[in-house]
Amino acid sequence: VINFEDKLLVHKNSNPIIIGKNSDEFIISSDNNIIQELCDEFVVLDDDDFCLIDSELSFSYLNKVLKKTLKKNVNIKEIKTTTFMESEILEQKNLKNIFFDENLKNIYELVNKIKNCNKKIILSAAGTSFHACLFFHYKLLEYGILSQVILASEFENYLDIIDDDFLIIVFSQSGETGDLIRPLKILSQNCVEIVSVLNNRNSSIEYLSKSCVFLNCGEEISVASTKAFGFQIFIIEVISDLLKYNSLKKISKRINFISDNFEVEVDKIFKKVDEIIFNYDIDKVFFIGRNSLFPIALEGALKLKEVSYMHSEGFAGGELKHGSLALVDTKTLVFCLDNNSDILSNAIEIKTRGGIIIGLGTIQSTEFDDFIKTDDLIFMIIALQIIGLKYSLSLGLSPDKPRNLAKSVTVR
Ligand code: M6R
Repeated sequence: VINFEDKLLVHKNSNPIIIGKNSDEFIISSDNNIIQELCDEFVVLDDDDFCLIDSELSFSYLNKVLKKTLKKNVNIKEIKTTTFMESEILEQKNLKNIFFDENLKNIYELVNKIKNCNKKIILSAAGTSFHACLFFHYKLLEYGILSQVILASEFENYLDIIDDDFLIIVFSQSGETGDLIRPLKILSQNCVEIVSVLNNRNSSIEYLSKSCVFLNCGEEISVASTKAFGFQIFIIEVISDLLKYNSLKKISKRINFISDNFEVEVDKIFKKVDEIIFNYDIDKVFFIGRNSLFPIALEGALKLKEVSYMHSEGFAGGELKHGSLALVDTKTLVFCLDNNSDILSNAIEIKTRGGIIIGLGTIQSTEFDDFIKTDDLIFMIIALQIIGLKYSLSLGLSPDKPRNLAKSVTVR
């Protein structure tokens, strides 16, 4: 933005710019949530758009006119706690919001695309959203579809072999992750079909996509993504049920179960986490899961390291014996997701080397030193988020603003 003969000249180059107007001011921002609250009219700039605003508060575009109605983000009534991270964990109660507005139609469209797809499917995202992609990959396998999951920061390496024989599905809470935007710009110019699963409306990735599904989980402020992950996983569960049963019956029951039992279950998890996690003298934490719980284990580890700076790693249970088992000693705490026989055999391998095992899931096991009961995957995810939150707070850290990190990562 530059001052130019008493006028403001605004130019957009890669980072998002939205200009809002109300009766007595213009607001120029990269955050459409602010603009939504304060303005009645908006314009979303595309790359290389110029806009001139004069002192009379009139504005004109120097190239094309781009008037767009700003689509409203869902407003979830905030639950007041001392940190945004905690409020946002609790806001996962509102899962039914995924059906808000036209989103069910968007979900059906994506399901039909997948059902009738004779294209190769690529899933891509960064960080927490990448873990959601990996979870989607496992769910598509259950339906007999093999997809390729690519880290957003590695996506550019694949561009030469991607043509319109591919369907690209990307996940992003912000819709502004630079590592995704760069390859998507090229792919959209090459007319490759892009479908995105986003939270923030009017984002750069939305405008690069042919169609979108929205999380509708409300604005996420804490740098550590929590509710967006819960909603991403749940949208994938909806898609997966529609693929398998062509019905929303099972998933609607689950949503009701989660929302009816939410306070009681989450309260129990908070108490249990408080009761057990500080009992052990540890210097590293592992999370293990198999199959679709492998990405959930990765997310548990990311959450913990991000907000508590504790050394934590997530593993596919079966992979430990191929190297990382060498790290296990009496100061290793391992969260074991579920208790099927395969993951239990991995837990036993850890236990015999002195590691401490805490189980998460529906059923206790004698192999667990302790157990956090979680009767739905969403409660398991919430338990992992609470573990991160509690460690962070116990160390006197601010979980909302971890050192070295930003909410929206637009740089390379
Ligand atoms: O907005 P996005 O979902 O595209 O962001 C991707 C990652 O930068 C993000 O998930 C990051 O890993 C979070 N801080 C994790 O809590």
